[in-house]
Amino acid sequence: MAQAFGKVILLGEHSVVYGHPAIAAALDRGVSARGTALREAGAVDLLVIEPWGVQALPDVSSGGEPTLGRAFAEVLATFPAERPRVRIDANVAIPGGSGLGCSAALGVAVVRAIDEALGQTHSLEDDIARSLRWERVFHGQPSGVDNAIAAAGGLALFVKGSALEPLRARRPLRLVVGDSGEASATKSMVESVARQHEQVPEKTRQTFEAIAAIVRNGKLAIEGGDLRGLGQLMNMNQWLLAGLLLSTPKLEEMCAAARDTGALGAKLTGAGGGGCMVALCADAASAELVRDAVAKHARDAFVVVAGGLPSGAAENDAP
Ligand code: PMV
Repeated sequence: MAQAFGKVILLGEHSVVYGHPAIAAALDRGVSARGTALREAGAVDLLVIEPWGVQALPDVSSGGEPTLGRAFAEVLATFPAERPRVRIDANVAIPGGSGLGCSAALGVAVVRAIDEALGQTHSLEDDIARSLRWERVFHGQPSGVDNAIAAAGGLALFVKGSALEPLRARRPLRLVVGDSGEASATKSMVESVARQHEQVPEKTRQTFEAIAAIVRNGKLAIEGGDLRGLGQLMNMNQWLLAGLLLSTPKLEEMCAAARDTGALGAKLTGAGGGGCMVALCADAASAELVRDAVAKHARDAFVVVAGGLPSGAAENDAP
């Protein structure tokens, strides 16, 4: 069974599109997919996404609305034409269009399931490169952070065009993720930032520089176990994202609920304009309180622990 992870961006979304760093963490949930080779004559490639009740055939047409069929055709084009046809059955355990990297995780899982069906293996770098073709269908010119983390998992610093730099957190990062339930389209949010970049270049450039400094300090805070400092950096990042018109009243309400219940910091995660927020908590008890408070304003809220600890390993919450 092929697997790929959902993700949250802890710091640096949007500026990452312009070559600045971002820090992202994989979720403990994502997309799984099974690939089967179809050897009978006349078989066709088929993608089935069970929870959505959707089936897609590869669509090689260009232009028009992005579709699963076009994305499927893009990744199939990275395999030799002379191959058995494949059937991919995917199971999606994260909501789409909410900033949790659903489409990237689906792309990575589909690429890996095709490998599985054909009895092939590829390197992590290959998986990342091939799934970026899938992402481009939906998101135009994505930075690549989503599909890199979807493929690699863990916690890492990402810079467009470079290999992921895995980060080791000195203390586990207990995160509360809240889904606003408001749909958000990454492509249009990225386009809205691009318009601001064109119309007010100096202001936008300064915002990106400030976010980049926040990310660099965030890396040090993660590696040094300074959760309080990391939380403050998340708050600062949120103010700068709000200045780019990416926040919504609902996301602000959820972030405020998290901070009021003791979260060390909170911000939107992903493209914004709806979707999800993420809050950092000092320990497991605080994370539960914050989750319950955020849940009152959210469609869904859950706790995830990031930081590279194998699941079930003893965690040290002490300062
Ligand atoms: O698609 P989302 O909501 O998971 O966010 C993608 C992150 C952006 O920085 C907004 C876009 C990108 O390509 O990095």
